[in-house]
Amino acid sequence: MTAALEIENLTVAYGNVVAVRGVSFVVPERQVVALLGANGAGKTSLLGGVSGLIRASSGRVRVGGVDISGLPAQKVARRGLRLVPESRALFPDLTVLENLHVGAGRLHRAERDRRVERAFDLFPVLGRRSRQAAGTMSGGEQQMLSIARSLAADPRVLVLDEPSMGLAPMVVASIVETIARLRDEGLTVLVAEQNARAVLPVADRAVLMARGQVLREGPAAEVREQVEAEGYLGGATL
Ligand SMILES: Nc1ncnc2c1ncn2[C@@H]1O[C@H](COP(=O)(O)OP(=O)(O)OP(=O)(O)O)[C@@H](O)[C@H]1O
Ligand SMILES: [Mg+2]
Repeated sequence: MTAALEIENLTVAYGNVVAVRGVSFVVPERQVVALLGANGAGKTSLLGGVSGLIRASSGRVRVGGVDISGLPAQKVARRGLRLVPESRALFPDLTVLENLHVGAGRLHRAERDRRVERAFDLFPVLGRRSRQAAGTMSGGEQQMLSIARSLAADPRVLVLDEPSMGLAPMVVASIVETIARLRDEGLTVLVAEQNARAVLPVADRAVLMARGQVLREGPAAEVREQVEAEGYLGGATL
């Protein structure tokens, strides 16, 4: 089992507040790993440390075996790790198509068009709305566009922070199905979610965090038992 992403002893702090304390786990190639935990568990901070958005205090991160520890986000992205942030971070005044072009970066036109077509195939609504300003799309459509924009860079590892946030159950289901499809086509995915119920069915493995540390890590079905026992399933703690 090759690891696409290895996180080793990662610590992330904001001044005196330690948000992530010595976290280690791997994301195997072509698998979906769900990063679970209640509000404030440290999921976003961990993803920040992994993606280079936040400088980790200590620890190592490797993508495809290559050490990327300490690199800034842009360089981490170039090494094949793309983060879809909770905020979605679209360019609201640019059209859907223009946002996808930004994601694809500088490429030969044929390759760029191929990636745009692929985005429209994954999320047909984006094709129908290609000339619409991103900021005027619905929440679900914006989440799809944010994922599609990251995918346009052809990443090795896709990292998503709370993709279900604020979305109706049917939209969440469709996004989760897309995550499973991407995995089946060979992508490696790390997805942070308070909403364990939504992602566990498609996850291969899961990592349950609490107070900045890993409570449990393993095959999704095994972690699910603990998630249920501790009342994390819907996101809220009992
Ligand atoms: N910029 C910051 N400055 C200081 N403390 C922060 C900052 N960002 C997060 N924290 C703290 O770090 C801890 C972990 O927060 P984090 O956002 O990583 O949790 P989370 O698991 O993503 O939560 P949620 O599910 O609500 O998104 C919390 O105690 C939070 O208050
Ligand atoms: Mg978060």
